[in-house]
Amino acid sequence: MTSPVIRPLTEVEEFEECVALQGSVWGFADRDLVPRRMFSVAHKIGGQVLGAWSGATLAGFTLAIPGLRDGRVYWHSHMLAVAGEFRNLGLGRRLKLYQRDEALARGIELIEWTFDPLEIMNGYFNLGLLGAVARRYLPNFYGLTSSALQAGLPTDRLSAEWWLRSPTVEAVATGAGAPAPVAKATVMVPAEIHAWKNAGDARALSTQSAIRRELTDAFAGGMAAIGYRRDDHGGYFLLGNL
Ligand SMILES: CC(C)(COP(=O)(O)OP(=O)(O)OC[C@H]1O[C@@H](n2cnc3c(N)ncnc32)[C@H](O)[C@@H]1OP(=O)(O)O)[C@@H](O)C(=O)NCCC(=O)NCCS
Repeated sequence: MTSPVIRPLTEVEEFEECVALQGSVWGFADRDLVPRRMFSVAHKIGGQVLGAWSGATLAGFTLAIPGLRDGRVYWHSHMLAVAGEFRNLGLGRRLKLYQRDEALARGIELIEWTFDPLEIMNGYFNLGLLGAVARRYLPNFYGLTSSALQAGLPTDRLSAEWWLRSPTVEAVATGAGAPAPVAKATVMVPAEIHAWKNAGDARALSTQSAIRRELTDAFAGGMAAIGYRRDDHGGYFLLGNL
């Protein structure tokens, strides 16, 4: 398989491909899909849409919209998706680094996105591989959703902050990788969480509630999630001071 080629997307037909890939990756019902018109808006108002192409096949995409907080413009990266057959080949990382390059070229130094703290792969990818940090816990952020990945649980999310000029993210961009942070405490996500979610097991909800409490308390006490580690038992948010 040749390595997919990444480039900005600008055409309606390309946005339609993104919507189709979105449907297969997240399993959303039509009412929860981000429509192609939103991709057009993002592209036209100072956000960005990137696509990764393997020939005529869309292997992955990102969608970012501009945000404003405390007088600072940043990008909210609403979606990152890689098609199943192209995963674990480094494409997700390449898309994020391409997004970073374009943000910096436009004078933007912060990209944020939300992710499900129960998803070990995402925690590892965002905090462990990309060097993002998190210090805001957002309970039931989207309300209940039709996504199969959510399995009917509240849509709790962590807000990932990707400070593009931080030493950690600079190290990621050069290929050196994020240095291991010094953790003062950890919050564990058990590896069984997916099986519990899929089976409708009550332990999925109780685990989510416990993690919500632990992270919220840690953030209220001034700590942040500054890294992530995983082993056969699960994933671990590494907590420390920023
Ligand atoms: C998250 C996603 C974009 C990653 O894309 P990708 O192209 O597979 O990413 P990469 O190949 O760059 O990196 C994946 C890393 O996660 C690791 N990984 C793979 N499966 C994993 C798992 N089940 N648990 C933990 N880590 C896992 C890989 O080993 C790799 O790390 P490594 O290079 O240290 O080995 C892709 O899985 C996806 O589209 N997921 C569904 C949509 C989604 O969750 N998007 C939101 C992301 S916040």
